[in-house]
Amino acid sequence: MAVLPDRNLALELVRVTEAAAMSAARWQGRGDKDNVDQAAVDAMRDVLATVEMDGIVVIGEGEKDEAPMLYNGEQVGNGEPPLVDVAVDPVDGTRLTARGMPGALAVLAVAERGSMYAPGKLVYMDKIAVGEEAADRIDIEAPVAYNLEQVAKAKGKSVADVTAVILDRPRNEDYIRQVREAGGRIALIGDGDISGAISTAKEDSHIDILFGIGGSPEAVTAACAMASVNGEIQCKLWPRDDSERQFAMDEGLDLNQVLTTRDLVNSDNTFFAATGVTSGDLLEGVEFRGNQVRTHSLVMRSKTGTVRFVDGIHRLDQLNKLGAEY
Ligand code: FBP
Repeated sequence: MAVLPDRNLALELVRVTEAAAMSAARWQGRGDKDNVDQAAVDAMRDVLATVEMDGIVVIGEGEKDEAPMLYNGEQVGNGEPPLVDVAVDPVDGTRLTARGMPGALAVLAVAERGSMYAPGKLVYMDKIAVGEEAADRIDIEAPVAYNLEQVAKAKGKSVADVTAVILDRPRNEDYIRQVREAGGRIALIGDGDISGAISTAKEDSHIDILFGIGGSPEAVTAACAMASVNGEIQCKLWPRDDSERQFAMDEGLDLNQVLTTRDLVNSDNTFFAATGVTSGDLLEGVEFRGNQVRTHSLVMRSKTGTVRFVDGIHRLDQLNKLGAEY
Protein backbone atom coordinates (compact mmCIF):
# COMPACT_ATOMS: atom_id res chain seq x y z
CA MET A 1 0.00 0.00 0.00
CA ALA A 2 1.23 3.48 -0.78
CA VAL A 3 2.48 5.46 2.21
CA LEU A 4 1.36 9.05 1.95
CA PRO A 5 3.39 11.86 3.49
CA ASP A 6 2.20 12.57 7.02
CA ARG A 7 1.58 15.86 8.79
CA ASN A 8 3.71 18.72 7.55
CA LEU A 9 4.43 20.81 10.65
CA ALA A 10 6.04 23.51 8.54
CA LEU A 11 2.60 24.47 7.24
CA GLU A 12 1.73 25.39 10.81
CA LEU A 13 5.09 26.95 11.61
CA VAL A 14 4.57 29.46 8.84
CA ARG A 15 1.80 31.08 10.89
CA VAL A 16 4.40 31.69 13.56
CA THR A 17 6.91 33.31 11.20
CA GLU A 18 4.15 35.37 9.58
CA ALA A 19 3.16 36.73 12.99
CA ALA A 20 6.79 37.49 13.88
CA ALA A 21 7.41 39.22 10.55
CA MET A 22 4.25 41.32 10.76
CA SER A 23 5.09 42.47 14.28
CA ALA A 24 8.74 43.16 13.54
CA ALA A 25 7.97 45.00 10.30
CA ARG A 26 6.05 47.67 12.25
CA TRP A 27 9.47 48.67 13.59
CA GLN A 28 11.09 48.92 10.17
CA GLY A 29 13.40 51.91 9.85
CA ARG A 30 12.83 53.17 13.37
CA GLY A 31 16.42 52.61 14.40
CA ASP A 32 15.58 50.39 17.34
CA LYS A 33 16.88 46.85 16.91
CA ASP A 34 15.81 45.64 20.35
CA ASN A 35 12.18 46.53 19.70
CA VAL A 36 12.35 44.74 16.35
CA ASP A 37 13.49 41.60 18.15
CA GLN A 38 11.09 41.98 21.08
CA ALA A 39 8.07 42.43 18.80
CA ALA A 40 9.02 39.33 16.82
CA VAL A 41 9.74 37.23 19.92
CA ASP A 42 6.42 38.15 21.56
CA ALA A 43 4.44 37.33 18.43
CA MET A 44 6.33 34.08 17.90
CA ARG A 45 5.78 32.97 21.45
CA ASP A 46 2.02 33.60 21.29
CA VAL A 47 1.47 31.69 18.06
CA LEU A 48 3.96 28.92 18.93
CA ALA A 49 1.79 28.07 21.93
CA THR A 50 -0.99 27.05 19.50
CA VAL A 51 1.16 24.59 17.55
CA GLU A 52 0.65 20.95 18.45
CA MET A 53 4.14 19.88 19.45
CA ASP A 54 6.30 19.43 22.52
CA GLY A 55 9.23 21.62 21.58
CA ILE A 56 12.43 22.63 23.30
CA VAL A 57 14.35 25.61 21.99
CA VAL A 58 17.80 24.24 21.21
CA ILE A 59 18.85 27.08 18.99
CA GLY A 60 17.68 30.33 20.47
CA GLU A 61 18.87 33.69 19.37
CA GLY A 62 20.10 36.31 21.73
CA GLU A 63 22.81 35.16 24.12
CA LYS A 64 25.41 36.72 21.89
CA ASP A 65 24.04 40.26 22.15
CA GLU A 66 21.59 39.83 25.03
CA ALA A 67 18.68 40.45 22.72
CA PRO A 68 15.23 39.55 24.00
CA MET A 69 14.90 35.88 23.29
CA LEU A 70 13.16 32.61 23.12
CA TYR A 71 15.89 31.21 25.31
CA ASN A 72 17.69 27.90 24.96
CA GLY A 73 15.83 25.28 26.98
CA GLU A 74 12.49 27.10 26.78
CA GLN A 75 9.54 24.79 26.14
CA VAL A 76 7.37 25.80 23.23
CA GLY A 77 4.28 24.41 21.55
CA ASN A 78 1.16 23.10 23.28
CA GLY A 79 3.04 20.26 24.99
CA GLU A 80 1.48 17.44 22.94
CA PRO A 81 3.65 15.07 20.89
CA PRO A 82 5.68 15.08 18.68
CA LEU A 83 8.78 15.76 20.74
CA VAL A 84 10.94 18.15 18.78
CA ASP A 85 13.99 20.40 18.84
CA VAL A 86 13.28 23.97 17.81
CA ALA A 87 15.57 26.54 16.22
CA VAL A 88 14.27 30.09 16.28
CA ASP A 89 15.55 33.28 14.80
CA PRO A 90 12.63 35.65 15.33
CA VAL A 91 14.38 38.10 13.00
CA ASP A 92 17.55 37.22 11.15
CA GLY A 93 18.48 40.78 10.32
CA THR A 94 17.29 42.86 13.27
CA ARG A 95 19.72 45.62 12.29
CA LEU A 96 18.54 45.43 8.69
CA THR A 97 14.96 45.90 9.85
CA ALA A 98 15.83 48.71 12.25
CA ARG A 99 17.60 50.49 9.40
CA GLY A 100 14.98 49.65 6.77
CA MET A 101 17.43 47.63 4.71
CA PRO A 102 16.69 44.55 2.56
CA GLY A 103 16.94 40.88 3.44
CA ALA A 104 15.52 40.41 6.96
CA LEU A 105 13.57 37.20 7.64
CA ALA A 106 11.59 35.69 10.52
CA VAL A 107 12.74 32.07 10.75
CA LEU A 108 11.71 28.89 12.54
CA ALA A 109 12.93 25.32 12.11
CA VAL A 110 11.90 22.09 13.80
CA ALA A 111 13.23 18.52 13.77
CA GLU A 112 13.01 15.42 16.00
CA ARG A 113 14.11 15.74 19.62
CA GLY A 114 17.86 15.39 19.97
CA SER A 115 18.66 15.99 16.31
CA MET A 116 20.05 19.53 16.40
CA TYR A 117 23.68 20.35 17.11
CA ALA A 118 24.11 22.57 20.16
CA PRO A 119 27.14 24.86 19.84
CA GLY A 120 26.85 26.15 23.41
CA LYS A 121 28.69 29.38 24.04
CA LEU A 122 30.52 29.27 20.74
CA VAL A 123 28.53 31.89 18.90
CA TYR A 124 30.40 31.82 15.58
CA MET A 125 31.06 29.24 12.90
CA ASP A 126 33.06 29.37 9.71
CA LYS A 127 30.66 28.44 6.89
CA ILE A 128 30.40 27.43 3.28
CA ALA A 129 27.09 26.60 1.59
CA VAL A 130 25.90 25.66 -1.89
CA GLY A 131 22.81 24.37 -3.63
CA GLU A 132 22.14 20.84 -4.87
CA GLU A 133 24.30 20.89 -8.03
CA ALA A 134 27.51 21.44 -6.08
CA ALA A 135 26.48 19.82 -2.79
CA ASP A 136 28.89 16.89 -2.96
CA ARG A 137 31.80 18.90 -4.37
CA ILE A 138 32.61 21.52 -1.75
CA ASP A 139 35.16 21.28 1.04
CA ILE A 140 35.41 23.95 3.72
CA GLU A 141 39.03 22.98 4.31
CA ALA A 142 40.04 23.49 0.68
CA PRO A 143 41.13 26.84 -0.73
CA VAL A 144 38.44 29.28 -1.84
CA ALA A 145 39.63 28.99 -5.45
CA TYR A 146 39.03 25.22 -5.39
CA ASN A 147 35.47 25.64 -4.13
CA LEU A 148 34.73 28.33 -6.70
CA GLU A 149 36.01 26.03 -9.46
CA GLN A 150 33.86 23.17 -8.17
CA VAL A 151 30.74 25.32 -8.20
CA ALA A 152 31.59 26.65 -11.65
CA LYS A 153 32.02 23.10 -12.99
CA ALA A 154 28.83 21.87 -11.33
CA LYS A 155 26.85 24.74 -12.81
CA GLY A 156 28.52 24.67 -16.21
CA LYS A 157 29.91 28.17 -16.06
CA SER A 158 33.22 29.91 -15.51
CA VAL A 159 34.59 31.08 -12.17
CA ALA A 160 34.16 34.65 -13.40
CA ASP A 161 30.40 33.99 -13.43
CA VAL A 162 30.27 32.54 -9.91
CA THR A 163 28.88 34.87 -7.24
CA ALA A 164 29.82 34.37 -3.60
CA VAL A 165 27.72 35.90 -0.86
CA ILE A 166 29.78 36.97 2.17
CA LEU A 167 28.85 38.71 5.43
CA ASP A 168 30.56 42.08 5.42
CA ARG A 169 32.76 41.76 8.49
CA PRO A 170 36.49 42.42 9.07
CA ARG A 171 36.87 38.75 10.07
CA ASN A 172 35.78 37.76 6.54
CA GLU A 173 38.34 39.92 4.75
CA ASP A 174 40.49 36.95 3.87
CA TYR A 175 37.53 35.31 2.10
CA ILE A 176 36.83 38.53 0.20
CA ARG A 177 40.49 38.73 -0.89
CA GLN A 178 40.60 35.10 -1.96
CA VAL A 179 37.40 35.31 -4.02
CA ARG A 180 38.75 38.43 -5.75
CA GLU A 181 42.10 36.78 -6.46
CA ALA A 182 40.37 33.73 -7.90
CA GLY A 183 38.32 35.97 -10.20
CA GLY A 184 34.89 35.29 -8.70
CA ARG A 185 32.13 37.80 -8.07
CA ILE A 186 31.02 38.92 -4.61
CA ALA A 187 27.71 39.98 -3.09
CA LEU A 188 28.41 41.46 0.34
CA ILE A 189 25.57 41.40 2.86
CA GLY A 190 25.38 43.48 6.01
CA ASP A 191 23.50 40.78 7.93
CA GLY A 192 21.37 37.72 7.34
CA ASP A 193 23.46 34.72 6.39
CA ILE A 194 20.52 32.29 6.73
CA SER A 195 19.02 34.00 3.72
CA GLY A 196 22.48 34.00 2.13
CA ALA A 197 22.82 30.24 2.54
CA ILE A 198 19.34 29.48 1.22
CA SER A 199 19.87 31.81 -1.74
CA THR A 200 22.62 29.50 -3.01
CA ALA A 201 19.99 26.77 -3.42
CA LYS A 202 17.17 28.86 -4.83
CA GLU A 203 16.28 28.28 -8.44
CA ASP A 204 17.21 31.23 -10.69
CA SER A 205 19.21 32.83 -7.86
CA HIS A 206 22.19 35.00 -8.76
CA ILE A 207 24.00 33.66 -5.66
CA ASP A 208 26.08 30.49 -6.09
CA ILE A 209 28.01 29.97 -2.86
CA LEU A 210 28.20 31.35 0.68
CA PHE A 211 31.52 31.82 2.45
CA GLY A 212 32.31 33.34 5.81
CA ILE A 213 32.17 33.40 9.55
CA GLY A 214 28.71 34.06 10.95
CA GLY A 215 26.46 33.01 13.80
CA SER A 216 26.38 29.39 15.01
CA PRO A 217 22.61 29.43 15.66
CA GLU A 218 22.11 30.64 12.10
CA ALA A 219 24.24 27.72 10.82
CA VAL A 220 22.04 25.09 12.47
CA THR A 221 18.88 26.86 11.36
CA ALA A 222 20.16 27.16 7.80
CA ALA A 223 21.04 23.44 7.86
CA CYS A 224 17.35 22.62 8.45
CA ALA A 225 16.57 24.55 5.28
CA MET A 226 19.46 23.15 3.23
CA ALA A 227 18.36 19.61 4.13
CA SER A 228 15.03 20.31 2.43
CA VAL A 229 16.58 21.35 -0.86
CA ASN A 230 19.46 18.84 -0.96
CA GLY A 231 21.92 21.69 -0.57
CA GLU A 232 24.97 21.49 1.65
CA ILE A 233 26.30 23.66 4.44
CA GLN A 234 29.65 22.82 6.01
CA CYS A 235 30.86 24.61 9.11
CA LYS A 236 33.62 24.67 11.71
CA LEU A 237 33.32 26.20 15.14
CA TRP A 238 35.16 29.52 15.24
CA PRO A 239 36.24 30.46 18.79
CA ARG A 240 36.86 34.16 19.32
CA ASP A 241 39.37 33.83 22.13
CA ASP A 242 41.12 31.50 24.56
CA SER A 243 38.14 31.31 26.89
CA GLU A 244 35.98 29.99 24.02
CA ARG A 245 38.76 27.57 23.06
CA GLN A 246 38.84 26.38 26.66
CA PHE A 247 35.04 26.06 26.71
CA ALA A 248 35.19 23.89 23.60
CA MET A 249 37.80 21.64 25.23
CA ASP A 250 35.82 21.37 28.45
CA GLU A 251 32.62 20.52 26.57
CA GLY A 252 34.30 18.06 24.23
CA LEU A 253 33.54 20.20 21.17
CA ASP A 254 36.04 19.43 18.43
CA LEU A 255 37.28 22.64 16.84
CA ASN A 256 38.74 20.71 13.91
CA GLN A 257 35.57 18.84 13.05
CA VAL A 258 33.91 19.69 9.77
CA LEU A 259 30.22 19.89 10.61
CA THR A 260 28.14 18.86 7.61
CA THR A 261 24.44 19.53 7.12
CA ARG A 262 23.81 16.10 8.64
CA ASP A 263 25.99 16.90 11.67
CA LEU A 264 24.16 20.16 12.24
CA VAL A 265 20.76 18.48 12.06
CA ASN A 266 20.72 14.70 12.20
CA SER A 267 17.27 14.19 10.74
CA ASP A 268 15.43 13.09 7.61
CA ASN A 269 12.43 15.13 8.61
CA THR A 270 13.29 18.80 9.13
CA PHE A 271 10.64 21.50 8.91
CA PHE A 272 11.50 25.06 7.97
CA ALA A 273 9.48 28.25 7.62
CA ALA A 274 10.62 31.79 6.93
CA THR A 275 8.68 34.99 6.25
CA GLY A 276 10.18 38.12 4.71
CA VAL A 277 10.34 41.10 7.06
CA THR A 278 12.03 43.49 4.62
CA SER A 279 12.22 42.69 0.90
CA GLY A 280 15.31 40.84 -0.23
CA ASP A 281 16.69 38.31 -2.74
CA LEU A 282 14.81 35.43 -1.16
CA LEU A 283 11.44 36.87 -0.18
CA GLU A 284 9.43 40.06 -0.38
CA GLY A 285 8.91 41.85 2.92
CA VAL A 286 5.71 42.66 4.81
CA GLU A 287 3.36 45.07 3.05
CA PHE A 288 0.92 47.12 5.08
CA ARG A 289 -2.13 48.13 3.05
CA GLY A 290 -4.68 49.68 5.35
CA ASN A 291 -6.76 46.87 6.74
CA GLN A 292 -4.69 44.26 4.92
CA VAL A 293 -1.23 43.00 5.65
CA ARG A 294 0.50 40.88 3.05
CA THR A 295 3.24 38.39 3.85
CA HIS A 296 5.52 36.25 1.73
CA SER A 297 6.92 33.03 3.10
CA LEU A 298 8.98 29.99 2.26
CA VAL A 299 7.89 26.64 3.69
CA MET A 300 9.98 23.48 3.34
CA ARG A 301 10.24 19.95 4.61
CA SER A 302 13.19 17.62 4.05
CA LYS A 303 11.28 14.31 4.14
CA THR A 304 9.40 15.19 0.97
CA GLY A 305 11.62 17.95 -0.38
CA THR A 306 8.54 20.05 -1.01
CA VAL A 307 9.19 23.78 -1.23
CA ARG A 308 6.24 26.13 -1.02
CA PHE A 309 6.04 29.86 -1.43
CA VAL A 310 3.09 31.00 0.63
CA ASP A 311 1.53 34.44 0.23
CA GLY A 312 -0.70 35.54 3.08
CA ILE A 313 -3.36 38.23 3.15
CA HIS A 314 -4.17 39.09 6.75
CA ARG A 315 -7.19 41.19 7.80
CA LEU A 316 -6.35 43.50 10.66
CA ASP A 317 -9.94 44.16 11.76
CA GLN A 318 -10.69 40.48 12.23
CA LEU A 319 -7.35 39.71 13.86
CA ASN A 320 -7.79 42.64 16.23
CA LYS A 321 -11.18 41.28 17.30
CA LEU A 322 -9.40 38.03 18.20
CA GLY A 323 -6.86 39.98 20.27
CA ALA A 324 -3.95 39.92 17.85
CA GLU A 325 -2.52 43.36 17.05
CA TYR A 326 -0.17 43.90 14.14
P1 FBP B 1 20.49 38.83 14.11
O1 FBP B 1 19.73 39.82 13.33
O2 FBP B 1 19.64 37.66 14.47
O3 FBP B 1 21.18 39.44 15.27
O4 FBP B 1 21.63 38.18 13.20
C1 FBP B 1 22.12 38.82 12.07
C2 FBP B 1 23.40 38.18 11.61
O5 FBP B 1 23.92 38.93 10.53
C3 FBP B 1 23.30 36.71 11.19
O6 FBP B 1 22.69 36.51 9.94
C4 FBP B 1 24.73 36.29 11.24
O7 FBP B 1 24.89 34.90 11.29
C5 FBP B 1 25.21 36.98 12.49
O8 FBP B 1 24.36 38.13 12.66
C6 FBP B 1 26.62 37.45 12.43
O9 FBP B 1 26.99 37.93 13.68
P2 FBP B 1 27.65 39.37 13.93
O10 FBP B 1 26.63 40.41 13.57
O11 FBP B 1 27.99 39.36 15.37
O12 FBP B 1 28.83 39.46 13.04
